[in-house]
Amino acid sequence: MTSNGSAVLQLEEVRRTYHLSRAVDVPALRGVSLTFVPGELVTIVGPSGSGKTTLLNVSGLLDHQDAGDVIVDGESTGALSDRERTRVRREKIGFVFQSFNLLPHLSAEENVAMPLRYGDAPKARPAAELLAHVGLAERRLHRPDELSGGEQQRVAIARALALDPPILLCDEPTGELDSETASGIHDLLGELRRAGKTLVVVTHNEELARIADRSIHMRDGVITDDGAKRSRRSAPGHKGSDGKRRPAKPKASGTAGRKRAR
Ligand SMILES: Nc1ncnc2c1ncn2[C@@H]1O[C@H](COP(=O)(O)OP(=O)(O)OP(=O)(O)O)[C@@H](O)[C@H]1O
Ligand SMILES: [Mg+2]
Repeated sequence: MTSNGSAVLQLEEVRRTYHLSRAVDVPALRGVSLTFVPGELVTIVGPSGSGKTTLLNVSGLLDHQDAGDVIVDGESTGALSDRERTRVRREKIGFVFQSFNLLPHLSAEENVAMPLRYGDAPKARPAAELLAHVGLAERRLHRPDELSGGEQQRVAIARALALDPPILLCDEPTGELDSETASGIHDLLGELRRAGKTLVVVTHNEELARIADRSIHMRDGVITDDGAKRSRRSAPGHKGSDGKRRPAKPKASGTAGRKRAR
């Protein structure tokens, strides 16, 4: 396996087939290779059933590929034990889902603190601080049913950041939100990008696709466009969230947490 030094996440010829029965196989990923570097915001688009969620689950070690490798921050995970995979996932990856997945009987603060309950958490940030970071300091004692949809998604993002992972994987994070509320979530994702996180976001939202560094297109379990041409086309500058052209971002140096040139 070839590891790209500047990549924080790499997929190499990843295949995943669901076996519905002895006779029926559904090939959801059919040889996917992708590279993600620190501080990039990448959207994944494609028709329903094209393999986007499967790609996110395999990338985030929630699901295991049948062939190929997923390399997280330079560590090949293909041959790791379940226990080791859980360690890598906890240290490196945060997940945000369309339906927020908050525990209804817990407050915002308790939901954000959930990942801290299991095992060591050397890089953990206090839940109250994370909630303040997503603009919800005043809502920390509210339960999910006492929050708006956008606020619930911000709690879910704060929870995904609890262990300070370099990678955030989001599956249609604004799919259940109106466009104005979705814009607020996009601003937050843009801020996280500036802080050096790698954001991989499955979305149908065109506004987010516009502010992304690149868009990966999928169809029938393969990548039809990895967006690299578009990011080369837009060199030496790229568009900011306000649509204005920004100076070129520095080449990935392999240093996680670098700031973008803004
Ligand atoms: N648990 C499963 N068992 C069997 N087949 C599955 C399973 N999960 C997904 N599939 C199939 O794998 C293919 C890819 O599914 P996936 O959920 O990754 O698509 P998607 O691009 O996320 O779609 P959507 O936009 O509708 O969320 C589909 O054909 C789907 O029917
Ligand atoms: Mg999906």
